[in-house]
Amino acid sequence: MRQTIIAGNWKLNGTISDAEILLSALESAFAARPDIQIVVCPPYTTLAFAAQKLAESNAKIGGQDLFWKEKGAYTAQISAPMLKEIGCTYVIVGHSERRGRFGVPEPEFNEAVLAYFGDSDITVNLKLKAALAGGLIPICCVGETLSERQSGSTDSVVSNQTSAALKGVSAEQASGIVFAYEPVWAIGTGEVCAAVEADRVCGIIRQKVGKLYGADTAEKVQIQYGGSVKPDNAADLLGRPNIDGALVGGASLKAADFAAIIAASPR
Ligand code: PGA
Repeated sequence: MRQTIIAGNWKLNGTISDAEILLSALESAFAARPDIQIVVCPPYTTLAFAAQKLAESNAKIGGQDLFWKEKGAYTAQISAPMLKEIGCTYVIVGHSERRGRFGVPEPEFNEAVLAYFGDSDITVNLKLKAALAGGLIPICCVGETLSERQSGSTDSVVSNQTSAALKGVSAEQASGIVFAYEPVWAIGTGEVCAAVEADRVCGIIRQKVGKLYGADTAEKVQIQYGGSVKPDNAADLLGRPNIDGALVGGASLKAADFAAIIAASPR
């Protein structure tokens, strides 16, 4: 049986004082579910505080990104050892917002601006391997845009992103990775992917892992769904055979909503 993993991606939200309020309000919700893995991913500047605040709880913390080099002349980058030292167990890798693929594009995000969010399959792979080498568990995000879905390429996009991320990764390492199927069109839009379809695409990721590493590894890999997960759709999504958890954005910033999603996890 794979353990359910519910992660909150705070994105560009959460000063230390915000985190104090939010994490205090979540204490009892976290304590009520020692059977699942809860992860909180605040911005870098709040990680140390969150690590201290959650030290006695059953929740772990994760970074939202990392750089693949350990140190050097790479202004503003953060490495796996730095995240590890501050108390991270997890790190999100290849989130669509780091790949320049936004569910809700900003009007000023023309191509030149989007290039700033420059993750590609190749950098995602470098980051994933750096995370593993640094003893962090990657939460590796994959997912199609609306136009890719409309053109019928969902399965190939997701499958290709999965295999590209895993290049050079051993079976043993792969079995410990968390994947997150995050259809870009569902992120921050309030438009959730239907549970049957989300489960089907999570199954595509599992199949791909199975093709690359065998059935044992495929069985072990945890696969989350992410994209407009809310209290009212969480139970349906989390009850599906190929969905082992949720990567929650907006709703993870509201204590009552995140608590309800945690409570909706199957026992
Ligand atoms: P959302 O974001 O829940 O706000 O749609 C999910 C994510 O980007 O991980």
